[in-house]
Amino acid sequence: MEQIYENYTDEDRKVWRTLFDRQMGNLEKVVSQSYLEAIEIVDFRSDKIPDFSEIDEILGKTTGWGMYVVPRISEQKKFFKLLSKKRFTATTWLRKMSQLDYLEEPDMFHDVFGHVPLLSNKAYTGFFQGISNIAMRHIDEPRAIELLGRIYWFTIEFGLIRENDKLKIYGAGVISSSGETEYCQKSKTNWIDFDVKKILATPFYTDKIQDKYFVIESFDQLYNSLPLIETELEALLFSMRA
Ligand SMILES: [Fe+2]
Repeated sequence: MEQIYENYTDEDRKVWRTLFDRQMGNLEKVVSQSYLEAIEIVDFRSDKIPDFSEIDEILGKTTGWGMYVVPRISEQKKFFKLLSKKRFTATTWLRKMSQLDYLEEPDMFHDVFGHVPLLSNKAYTGFFQGISNIAMRHIDEPRAIELLGRIYWFTIEFGLIRENDKLKIYGAGVISSSGETEYCQKSKTNWIDFDVKKILATPFYTDKIQDKYFVIESFDQLYNSLPLIETELEALLFSMRA
């Protein structure tokens, strides 16, 4: 599949512009500095729906990553397989103006605005690919994939990072949602220091707003946690088999 750029309608352009402008306003002071730098690198703008061939060119030069178009959310095996080859699966369709804040499954605003900028960041993609490589080594063990899904969820999708003593957002699920952007900063939320064991023991829900967020100190911390993730994962799998 490919992105057919000329198929975008005026409504699509309006949806992109509306969501882009609103989220950039919401995010300005609360998103990770790395994301703000990354969105400049990938050259996303309010007045232009991103063109995947241009994204591929930019990511190719920065981290060697690229896009892989899918019609809808991929099953996990395929998803991790492509990630391990530095290919990020993304949809090309946009929600309608009538459903700006409600989505049953991720559209291009989530996949592209939320995920793609940080794919130009070397430390971040090192972790992302590392997780996928671990998944590939356990690809036929559904329990392993489920547990790695928790790591993915609480980092790539809903992770927060501490920058200059402030909590900032780097997870794509938060970045692409105005409700979650506001909610994750409230004091009644649980902020938990990044902890591999705790994350592996924490189920998540996809159908409601998060009640806990794991906070990292840096993308290097994530990258350096990869050996521990694999050791802990294997220990858990071993204890389940015993
Ligand atoms: Fe996502």
